Amino acid sequence: SYNGLALTPPMGFNDWAGFECNSDMNETLFTKTADAIVNLGLDKLGYDYVNIDDCWMQHDRDANGNLQVDASRFPHGMKWLGDYIHSKGLKFGVYEDAGYETCQGAAGSYGHFQQDADLYASWGVDYLKLDYCNQPLDQYPGMTQAQVAQIVYTQASQALLNTGRPMIFSESAPAYVCCSGSNFTNELTWLYQHGNLWRYGSDIADNWDSVIRNYSEDNTPGLAQWAGPGHWNDADMLETGNGGLTITEEQSQFTLWSEMASPLLLSTDLTQLSPAELAIVGNQDIIAVDQDKLGAQGTIVHSGADYDVLAKPLSGGDVSVVLFNKADHAQTISTTGATVGLSQGGPFQLTDLVSKQETSSTGTIAASVPSHGTVIYRVHPGAPKKLAPAGHATIDAGD
Ligand code: DGJ
Repeated sequence: SYNGLALTPPMGFNDWAGFECNSDMNETLFTKTADAIVNLGLDKLGYDYVNIDDCWMQHDRDANGNLQVDASRFPHGMKWLGDYIHSKGLKFGVYEDAGYETCQGAAGSYGHFQQDADLYASWGVDYLKLDYCNQPLDQYPGMTQAQVAQIVYTQASQALLNTGRPMIFSESAPAYVCCSGSNFTNELTWLYQHGNLWRYGSDIADNWDSVIRNYSEDNTPGLAQWAGPGHWNDADMLETGNGGLTITEEQSQFTLWSEMASPLLLSTDLTQLSPAELAIVGNQDIIAVDQDKLGAQGTIVHSGADYDVLAKPLSGGDVSVVLFNKADHAQTISTTGATVGLSQGGPFQLTDLVSKQETSSTGTIAASVPSHGTVIYRVHPGAPKKLAPAGHATIDAGD
């Protein structure tokens, strides 16, 4: 990682998908979210960033060129809010835009990268998402959009490093300028050298088609190889809790995002999550797949017309396998150990990471999967563990 951060995909909260610039996108939302993360124990599971998206700042800078907070939304200012979030043991993120204005028309960061980075550092910011609306193309005559993106994002990245404060750097540029066909090698090379994660695809929306679209974009052939400790493809926020997905679909988004080693950023009123939704986003075994230290992005290893099989190698030799049913009807999806990258033919131990059921197999990995559903197995190569024979006494090594 170029800055030593995000050795596993970032986890936490960003308000945009759930709140955009509605009137309830304000200080109370973020203090309430920080409280809820701790009260629900989500911090213990790894959800530690509380990130503010667009609309926290005004359209005009002050006389010294500093960004001005929208005081109607954030009456106590950003330093106060950062302190509050830190007091809960959490981390604090903000949003800006590398162009003239943010996507919602507030002051952009172009021309002020260092001044803004110093300001974030003075507030205790730990994470910057840098969007790319209103690009400053007129400043760079004759250059391509991609060349300009590289210049401004490299400058902004350096400005963050110059502050000496560790800040995760989330780059939106590829979602705007990427790439000629699948030829993104040049873009991904600099994105990866100057940032921790990047948006490649569309903005997530609260419906199943959008989940499928972002899932497909994140599976653009060749993209997965750019993921690894410190640098991640960002499939965008989780829609859990926002009402547009069924429970099965919410589980699928969470499972697929984890399999793809995407950031896990919740974006809803956490105090309103149902027990079933909390079980989805609080599933430690699936989080462990997302956060696996090998940092491989799972890929599609086999597809049918309306299903995919994904495999993600895990540290220690296990493989996470997802059977994903895109069809509008239930179906049995089947694959083999060889297809998911286990060189031996079997036997395997399969743990269903939702039901926690354990089964053994000699080679086939299969399940009946509901419509729009996923089954995720952690596959452990080898024979089942032999139980100690009945009546066998435990040997006390201390005697
Ligand atoms: C576009 C980004 O992709 C979204 O995630 C969000 O940050 C909006 N801009 C804010 O205007």
